[in-house]
Amino acid sequence: MIKITLQTDAAKACYPVYIGRNIAQNIGHLMGEILPPGPCLVVTDQNVLFYYNKISHNLQKGGFKPHLKVLDGGEKIKTPAFADMLYRRALESGLDRYSSIIALGGGVIGDLAGFVAATYLRGIPFVQIPTSLLAMVDSSVGGKVAVNHPLGKNLIGAFHHPSVVISDTTFLKTLPPREWRAGMAEVIKYGVIKDANLFSRLEALEKTNLQRPSGRELIYIISRTVQLKGMVVARDAKDHAHRRILNLGHTFGHALEAATGFKHYLHGEAVAVGMQMATVMAEKLGILDCQTARRIAELVEKLNPPPPPPFLNTALVKDALYYDKKKEGNELIFVLPEALGRVGFYKSVPQEKIHESIAYCLNIMDK
Ligand SMILES: NC(=O)c1ccc[n+]([C@@H]2O[C@H](COP(=O)([O-])OP(=O)(O)OC[C@H]3O[C@@H](n4cnc5c(N)ncnc54)[C@H](O)[C@@H]3O)[C@@H](O)[C@H]2O)c1
Repeated sequence: MIKITLQTDAAKACYPVYIGRNIAQNIGHLMGEILPPGPCLVVTDQNVLFYYNKISHNLQKGGFKPHLKVLDGGEKIKTPAFADMLYRRALESGLDRYSSIIALGGGVIGDLAGFVAATYLRGIPFVQIPTSLLAMVDSSVGGKVAVNHPLGKNLIGAFHHPSVVISDTTFLKTLPPREWRAGMAEVIKYGVIKDANLFSRLEALEKTNLQRPSGRELIYIISRTVQLKGMVVARDAKDHAHRRILNLGHTFGHALEAATGFKHYLHGEAVAVGMQMATVMAEKLGILDCQTARRIAELVEKLNPPPPPPFLNTALVKDALYYDKKKEGNELIFVLPEALGRVGFYKSVPQEKIHESIAYCLNIMDK
């Protein structure tokens, strides 16, 4: 088992992230080292409910009294209405300020349960047990929790770090192939923004292993991305400046998701195509050499991101860009690769370069 200690902010509060096989079976002990025993609420979805049976007995052994709330899976439950349902369940289960909420699931469950933990009784501890690759490599660490609003994704949220994260890689056994590839897009993102060695290591993998790494490679990938995210968050926990490097591919990605009604792309797939667009833009602006641009494009392509739906065109994506919540005034800020392992922020990008970058990628992917 690997243990990584992450710092939450400049105040240097820390929490452990455990990564390994079959480690969730020891949850009672791992949680008990940090949190007081007593009632806790496990929030999960139908697709991973099976894994509750793997942890409930051990939780009880550790002195915790688990209550369970099972929701449907998917982005549609990341809403204030579902948060309200969880507040009720927490109250009915007698959770007090010392009790914990445990998120057992992908990024959706983590964001929703984390948001409830951040706000219930002005904030109680929460534990992340991620079950999707995307949640293990990204969303379970860093302390951003949120629900969606009809006017946009993640608009109602908080910063609330987990007390402990337990990433049991055996839980990925049942993850569908498309979800694996979506998670790997975020992994490639970490290589591009901060670690050229990680990028080269991913390049060296056979296509099937890139799409579904296993064994030691998988443990390495999860632990390295967690470390990288930890470094970024420790420097800028509240997302004022530096943390925004994590948005590589997300400005275009969110626009693609919005322009397709959040139905066509998984989040990670939209990030993959968004990274392609950011790479083309960087090359067009002369800040990235063409060889590196080709390497990024080829690695992302190995994940087979889905082709655009027939109705999607450049104008729709461009319009959706202006709903980005990270923009300053009406000014879009793009995170663009400058080299492998290094990105920069770019404002005032000429309209025609934005247009050309989107059009180029949509055309290539349509073929
Ligand atoms: N808080 C953050 O920092 C952060 C970062 C990135 C993404 N996110 C959020 O994360 C969400 C996406 O996360 P996600 O990709 O994990 O989506 P998700 O939670 O919807 O999970 C994807 C699908 O896989 C299923 N699933 C999960 N684990 C499984 C397993 N082991 N076996 C079988 N099925 C399994 C889920 O039920 C769901 O249907 C988005 O809402 C996004 O906004 C948050």
